[in-house]
Amino acid sequence: MPRKLASGQKLVLASHNKGKLREIEALLRPLGIEVISAGALGLPEPEEDAPDFAGNARIKALAAATASGLPALSDDSGFCVAALDGAPGVLSARWAGPSKDFSKAMALVNDRIGDNPDRRAWFIAALCLAWPDGHTETFLGRIDGTVVWPPRGDQGFGYDPMFVPEGSQKTFGETDPAEKHAVSHRARAFAQVLTSCFG
Ligand code: IMP
Repeated sequence: MPRKLASGQKLVLASHNKGKLREIEALLRPLGIEVISAGALGLPEPEEDAPDFAGNARIKALAAATASGLPALSDDSGFCVAALDGAPGVLSARWAGPSKDFSKAMALVNDRIGDNPDRRAWFIAALCLAWPDGHTETFLGRIDGTVVWPPRGDQGFGYDPMFVPEGSQKTFGETDPAEKHAVSHRARAFAQVLTSCFG
């Protein structure tokens, strides 16, 4: 049975990524949910060692819910490139190295693609809601598009400047945040959270 969250409920956002926190807070604001970040509560970041997005999202949400005694929402997401058999995928953050340098990560993606004519790419987001008693619900969203080089635009975060979503001419880096929120992988997963947990 899907569980519901009521307006006024406190929810921990189990992410330490500022770009994701900003986007998820914007999505939750209209619902009257009080959002507290895992960072503000001083919660540690658990090891994300699952082989897929859903598994990692579950690890993060469960760790935050258990430690805080509140329902927790996590996001595990990444950038997948067809010519690289889906890489960087769950390693998207790690390709940027300890300095979180996404110019470097994007250059690495471009170098590895080389002259492969297959430019298909997609973002995936797994959102997991976990409760302190161990109950979890996971939702997946995806947006398809193409890789471009050189990167364009300074909005968004991560690999946004090298991704053009289907039906657009602009990279996510050139896209107004509200416009990105309307179509993104995270928004698509979030739409399912809304139906299931707030419906
Ligand atoms: P993690 O889910 O915290 O392990 O990291 C996911 C990584 O995927 C982020 O650090 C970004 O590099 C990348 N990523 C996820 N969602 C997006 C997005 O909407 N735009 C650009 N990059 C993203």
